[in-house]
Amino acid sequence: MLSRFLRSSLKTRVRPTSFFRSSHIISVHRDTDVNNPNIPFEFNAENLKLAESIISKYPPQYKKSAVMPLLDLGQRQLGFTSISVMNYVAKMLDMPPMRVYEVATFYTMYQRKPVGKFHIQVCTTTPCQLCNSDSIMETIMHELNLQPGETTPDGIFSLEEVECLGACVNGPMIQVNDDYFEDLTSEKVVEVLQGLKEGKDVHVGTATRETCEPIKGPKTLLTDKAIDLSKFTREDL
Ligand code: FES
Repeated sequence: MLSRFLRSSLKTRVRPTSFFRSSHIISVHRDTDVNNPNIPFEFNAENLKLAESIISKYPPQYKKSAVMPLLDLGQRQLGFTSISVMNYVAKMLDMPPMRVYEVATFYTMYQRKPVGKFHIQVCTTTPCQLCNSDSIMETIMHELNLQPGETTPDGIFSLEEVECLGACVNGPMIQVNDDYFEDLTSEKVVEVLQGLKEGKDVHVGTATRETCEPIKGPKTLLTDKAIDLSKFTREDL
C-alpha cells in the first residue's frame, strides 16, 4: 500500500520537461597545468597604467573597491581569470586573496578556466526561460556539439549557462564575448553561430526590434518632433 502511494506520488512529481542540466560553474580551484599559482602573472605596461588610473578613482583606504575592474583587466589580458591573476590583484589592492576569490567565484563574468575565441553565455533565468531560452540552449548545444562548461576542440566556441544578463525585456538572449544578441529564435541563433564561425560581421543587438520598444511597436513618443519641455515645466527651471 505504502509503496503504491510512494510510486504514484513520485510520478506526479516528475518534472514535466526532459531538458535538465546540472550546474557546471567552478566554485573551487583545482591546480592544472595552465592554472596554478606558480605561473607568473603581471599586468603589461598598458594595463598597469589603466589599473593605476582605476585605483586612483577610490580613496586610498578603499582601493579594494577596484577589485572587479582589475579582475576584468587581468581576464582580458590573459584570456581567463587564473589563480595567478587573482593573487596578483589581491596583492595590488592589499586584500586577503580569499576576498578576491570570493568575488571571482560569485560573478559568472569571470572565467575560471580558459574559454574559446567566442565565449557564449546563454541566459536561462525566468524571463528568458518563459520566452523559450531552453530551445536556444538546446540549439547551441546541438549545433556545436557542446555541453555547458565545454569548449570546442578547435578552441573557437565555448558555452556557459548563466543567470540574468540584464536584457530581460529582449529575451531570449545570449552574450558572446562583449556583445548581446537578443529576441532570438533557434534559426537566428544558428545564423549568429555561422556568421561568427565564418568571420562575418554579425548583427548585434535585437534580431527583430529597433531597441526594447513593445513587440507590437511603440506606444508612446510617437511623434518625430522633439518635445518642447518648457511646456511641461515651471518657467523658472
Ligand atoms: S532573464 Fe535573461 S536577461 Fe534577464
